Amino acid sequence: MPEPATPSPCPRVVSGMRPTGKLHLGNYMGALANWVKLQDRYDCYFFIADWHALTTDYADPSQIAPNTVEVMLDYLAAGLDPDRSVLFLQSRVKQHSELFLDLAMISPLGWLERVPSYKEMQENLAHKDLTTYGFLGYPVLMAADILLYQPDFVPVGQDQQAHVELTREIARRFNFFFPSGGRKPRDAGKHPDIRPVAIAMWEADQVLPEPKVLLTPSPKLPGTDGRKMSKSYGNTILLSDPEPVVRQKLKTMVTDPARVRRTDPGDPDKCPVGDLHKVFSTPETMAKVYDGCRSAGIGCIECKSWAADSLVKILEPIQQRRASFTEDHAKEILKAGSLRAAARAEQTMIEVRNAMQMTLTTVSGI
Ligand code: TRP
Ligand code: SF4
Repeated sequence: MPEPATPSPCPRVVSGMRPTGKLHLGNYMGALANWVKLQDRYDCYFFIADWHALTTDYADPSQIAPNTVEVMLDYLAAGLDPDRSVLFLQSRVKQHSELFLDLAMISPLGWLERVPSYKEMQENLAHKDLTTYGFLGYPVLMAADILLYQPDFVPVGQDQQAHVELTREIARRFNFFFPSGGRKPRDAGKHPDIRPVAIAMWEADQVLPEPKVLLTPSPKLPGTDGRKMSKSYGNTILLSDPEPVVRQKLKTMVTDPARVRRTDPGDPDKCPVGDLHKVFSTPETMAKVYDGCRSAGIGCIECKSWAADSLVKILEPIQQRRASFTEDHAKEILKAGSLRAAARAEQTMIEVRNAMQMTLTTVSGI
């Protein structure tokens, strides 16, 4: 069988993170590890959403730049590869701001006010004034980030799912107002079997196709206090934590409250340390944990040291890779990636400007 002349292009994915500081195991399991795997099969665009950081940190932006470098180093450490993925910085690709402005024109206020994280974040971050236009527009900026690359999928965790749904709705509305190649075939093929096909073909041909969520299956990952691992709880284990720090953090981790004394049996299914074992330990270790905990044959200190062993093993290659990059490397890679991203983004913007009939400047050279 002869090879096809042009291999079919890989489906495209786009995703990003806000630069909140050094990444932790929760970020890794919830997103990054999955992105690394996607690099084999997809045309990948991964970025750092520094403009999104500004929506909550505008009063003190001093940490955004240093955090961006840290996140980039963590991306590289985790195995994102600038030869296989376009790794870039949102604010270096000005097309994000242009598409954001265009999409803002058609985004109904009601849609934005109804986004669940809008009220939630305002309540959680009550010490910050988030009654701003920029913060309300967060999901519109996110829609621009995504639609700019005309992707097939957006790999995100469950917490971002509602945002991607809204992105789809904004894309649909854009395509309705600014269709490419004529109006939607409302009556095309009245036959109930044909009509959906006709509409699907029309939709796939539009300027901003609706991308699908690629949900990252994420295991329950507790932090040291037993709650979900999260920077805002201060209970994280960082990808860059050295071994002694990991061991120390594990030592203070909460356990099954039923094991008050060493002789009390416990249950790994009710213990955050048990949850870590489930994610990171081998079946052999797991078996020792279940037996030893339920029979009070092992102590929690021993059990935690095994969990620490498993974590250290996962972190070792990540930290080795991190050590092979300098901050200057990270900045260079971001710069080069941003140029590549901008070239791709501009292709979409040419289509967008045409569809919106905003072409006078390009035609007449004004
Ligand atoms: N809102 C995302 C977060 O808080 C970050 C983000 C911004 C994003 N733009 C995006 C994620 C586009 C995926 C696609 O983590
Ligand atoms: Fe948790 Fe391990 Fe202690 Fe059991 S032995 S309670 S699983 S730390």
